[in-house]
Amino acid sequence: MSQTLPRTVIDVITTRRSIPQFRSDPIPSDTIARLLEVAVWVPNHRLTEPWQFFVLGEKSKRRFGEIRRDFRASMLPNPQAAGVQPALQKVVDDTVRTPAIVIFTSQGHDDPELREENYWSTFGAAYAFMLAAWSEGIGTYFRTSAFRDYPPLREFLHLPPDTRVIGVLYVGYPAVVPQRPRTSAAEKTVWMD
Ligand SMILES: Cc1cc2nc3c(=O)[nH]c(=O)nc-3n(C[C@H](O)[C@H](O)[C@H](O)COP(=O)(O)O)c2cc1C
Repeated sequence: MSQTLPRTVIDVITTRRSIPQFRSDPIPSDTIARLLEVAVWVPNHRLTEPWQFFVLGEKSKRRFGEIRRDFRASMLPNPQAAGVQPALQKVVDDTVRTPAIVIFTSQGHDDPELREENYWSTFGAAYAFMLAAWSEGIGTYFRTSAFRDYPPLREFLHLPPDTRVIGVLYVGYPAVVPQRPRTSAAEKTVWMD
């Protein structure tokens, strides 16, 4: 699929979509490293820089895929039902096929206010990564759900108790770019005098 690169910050923001399917072209590690260097420029209160990034290599992607599969299975009323096993195996296969996966984690804080702000900042870092990637034609999909706090995922990353997974970013060149609508901000804005 040929793709015109967005030219302005506004183009980047408004044309970025969550990409459900990637081409098989790899994303080099130095590209990921460069985009992460952009991500750290997001605002963060008191410069706590609370994030840590986990970039999965081939072996880790497989293990991560298995953890995703087990999480999915744990959510099913009957994981042994007919047809379920191939669907669960697809979770592993899709994960392994994803060109790059980056997990964004954040330190908490003893102060509950700063804890929340640390989480917001780390999402900001993920979003900055997504925008920087898209400005170069690289697609992303940010996912969280209850998987974020799944103990085997935490063990896989060796997370200390005060650290939380903020989200998992799936990265690759887009095979498709879906259209998704937005409600105009005009309908969500209160202009106060
Ligand atoms: C904090 C956050 C968590 C998200 N978690 C998930 C998720 O668990 N699963 C998923 O399919 N999409 C997830 N998304 C992606 C949204 O579904 C997606 O951004 C939304 O549908 C709008 O689509 P767009 O990004 O293409 O504009 C998440 C997005 C955000 C910001």
